[in-house]
Amino acid sequence: MVMERNMMEIDYLDWNNALEVLTKAYQASLFALIIGPKGTGKTTLVRKFATGLNKELYSVNFSLRTRESHLVGSKTLEEGQVGFVEGILVKSMRNGGLLYLDELNAAEPDVLLRLDEALDDRRQIILKEAEGQIIKANHEWSVIATINPLSHVGTKELPPQLLSRFPIRLRLEYPPEEIELEIVRRHTSVDSSKITDIRHAIKLAKILREAAAIEELYYSPSLRESIAFAKLLNTGSNAKQAAEIVYANAYDQWGEVEYQKVMDMITSIFVE
Ligand SMILES: Nc1ncnc2c1ncn2[C@@H]1O[C@H](COP(=O)(O)OP(=O)(O)OP(=O)(O)O)[C@@H](O)[C@H]1O
Ligand SMILES: [Mg+2]
Repeated sequence: MVMERNMMEIDYLDWNNALEVLTKAYQASLFALIIGPKGTGKTTLVRKFATGLNKELYSVNFSLRTRESHLVGSKTLEEGQVGFVEGILVKSMRNGGLLYLDELNAAEPDVLLRLDEALDDRRQIILKEAEGQIIKANHEWSVIATINPLSHVGTKELPPQLLSRFPIRLRLEYPPEEIELEIVRRHTSVDSSKITDIRHAIKLAKILREAAAIEELYYSPSLRESIAFAKLLNTGSNAKQAAEIVYANAYDQWGEVEYQKVMDMITSIFVE
């Protein structure tokens, strides 16, 4: 049995020079914002960038439940002694690491406000939680944030003053079909007899993304689906069955009609 490659070994394919832009932003000491729909490689790109620079990565994945204390830290009380445990923002500032703010536009306003303070030109934060102590960022400190476009469930508009703290903006879209195939190949071995099927799946994904963009369908498949499809083929599944499992079945969440629309596409693309 062939085991799938480990996440750590996967190499990011820099198909639109995103690494170069991030490197320039870093050299100029400017913060960068990556904007792109789900599964376009945002997280993989940032990890690759941090590894290349040999910088420690401090990641926060924002949600409605992310509190100020995650970022800044919180007071502790042990045997009558008041202490302070630093949050990830403070740690990254102190150590000059790379702070990765993932899905920043899912955060609550009070959390964003604290970031506002740290990310302005002074690059410092006053810890009202710790007797007003001032933390100044190490000069090697850097920040990259990602946001999903507004159509993404649960996301809000990023407040303009926060947006303005990230003057380097990178758009990450789904790649052209040939590049998507190349990315799939980095994730799993692709037998030459399966290439046509994978090309078809990528084509199907593209059609589904276009339909979702104009709201004809509810869901837009990402690169994850293309990779999963190829992996399923490697286990011996036939193409049509793999496409039903990976693509069509997802649409059943919105009912039989949606599922059937996608199934009809699959039947016309994959002949058994
Ligand atoms: N350019 C690329 N090179 C190699 N792998 C890629 C590339 N782009 C995407 N991938 C792969 O596609 C999958 C999704 O990528 P990733 O998780 O980085 O996307 P994301 O944009 O962070 O998604 P989300 O918005 O859902 O967090 C991963 O398995 C990732 O390794
Ligand atoms: Mg991500």
